[in-house]
Amino acid sequence: MLEEVLTTDLHLREAKKKIESLWANGIDFSKQEVEEAKKNNRLLLLDMDFTSECQLHCYYCDRTPDRFQQEGRTKLTTEDRKNLILQAKALGARTVEFPGSGEPMIDEGFWEVMEFVYENGMTPVIFTSGWHLDDASIDRLYNLGATIFLKYNSTSHEVNDKIVKVKGYGAYVETILNKLVKKGFTESIPTRLAIDIVIAPQNEDIDDLSHIYRWCRRNNVHHYISTLIPEGLADRKSKLYEKNRAKKFIEHFYQIDREEFGLDYTPSLPMAGGYKCRQVNVGLFVNLYGEVYDCNGLGRFLGHIRVNTLEEIWNAKYAKHVREEEQEGHCEVRSRVWDETELKGFDRKLEEYKEWEIKNNAVDEVLLKGLYHRENKNELVNSSQDK
Ligand SMILES: C[S@@+](CC[C@H](N)C(=O)[O-])C[C@H]1O[C@@H](n2cnc3c(N)ncnc32)[C@H](O)[C@@H]1O
Ligand code: SF4
Repeated sequence: MLEEVLTTDLHLREAKKKIESLWANGIDFSKQEVEEAKKNNRLLLLDMDFTSECQLHCYYCDRTPDRFQQEGRTKLTTEDRKNLILQAKALGARTVEFPGSGEPMIDEGFWEVMEFVYENGMTPVIFTSGWHLDDASIDRLYNLGATIFLKYNSTSHEVNDKIVKVKGYGAYVETILNKLVKKGFTESIPTRLAIDIVIAPQNEDIDDLSHIYRWCRRNNVHHYISTLIPEGLADRKSKLYEKNRAKKFIEHFYQIDREEFGLDYTPSLPMAGGYKCRQVNVGLFVNLYGEVYDCNGLGRFLGHIRVNTLEEIWNAKYAKHVREEEQEGHCEVRSRVWDETELKGFDRKLEEYKEWEIKNNAVDEVLLKGLYHRENKNELVNSSQDK
């Protein structure tokens, strides 16, 4: 059972003035902050993968092989991650997010890296199944200023067990969610706690989802709700159906916000609740092998950290083009999958670049060198060497 903890509605009152007050600390980038960052060519967020290992088996897991199959590639070390954090800090980052190519908490360098982010004055944001959280790690994350995105797809323990294919998970994650709220992760504005809900056939129960939605609003828990990203195990032919279904849910949650919580905003795909992703304008994602993309879900390949610095990649021609237009919640790559592309995996992550090359009759050396390094894993390439 989800327990009621907050007794104030200050977060809702603040949200009427500024909707970002309801988002999670560390990813609460406002339109104004994005515009400022653009003016100053500032990167605000570094997104980085930890280990690809995971003890759960979500049937919808969006990890594609290019994100976790090693195939001769060299994994990032803890030292590499610390170095990237310093590079990102120098470019202006205030957040370091760990979306996970597996379960971030089981990476051997997890705590060292979290502490490093904290010591450098940035906010660590982690996506986790919660399976490895306990009282001690909850305290530690709280003290490190972390924001947590916890997987929580249903109030039914059986449904949650079925989704991850591990018995006992559903009951466990619910105790963890209640503990996080009691610990005080929801006391700040913006909150430091979010739940991640992927709406799929297994949990498509509008009454249950609405119940969770309302609980989140009352208790200052940010909710990150969308239908499946059609990637990895979830990459099936039902894409258009997902789009229509996403619209229906987003409309439904908007009605709850307007009628019951007095919140107004323009609802847009793909996220529910007025959340507008601005990742592409402010961030870079580095995968487990040092490849750099604009975003971790269906991202566009931009370069490689073994060949160029983050600064060189951030300032490369194609990277600048990708972040030129204001994203305002629109998910270009997801839209492409819904609407047109037949490509899969890594080919999809290069598709738009190839069109850009033709249209502009130009090449991006940074991207091409990174690509060459990716495809010729054992050759040493650095920025001073030509292809
Ligand atoms: C790949 S997981 C890694 C972190 C952690 N193991 C977890 O599951 O929370 C990162 C996030 O992506 C979400 N996710 C996984 N597959 C997805 C899909 N097909 N569509 C949308 N989100 C997905 C997960 O729920 C999680 O919030
Ligand atoms: S979504 Fe997360 S918990 Fe589920 S299998 Fe993928 S990495 Fe593991």
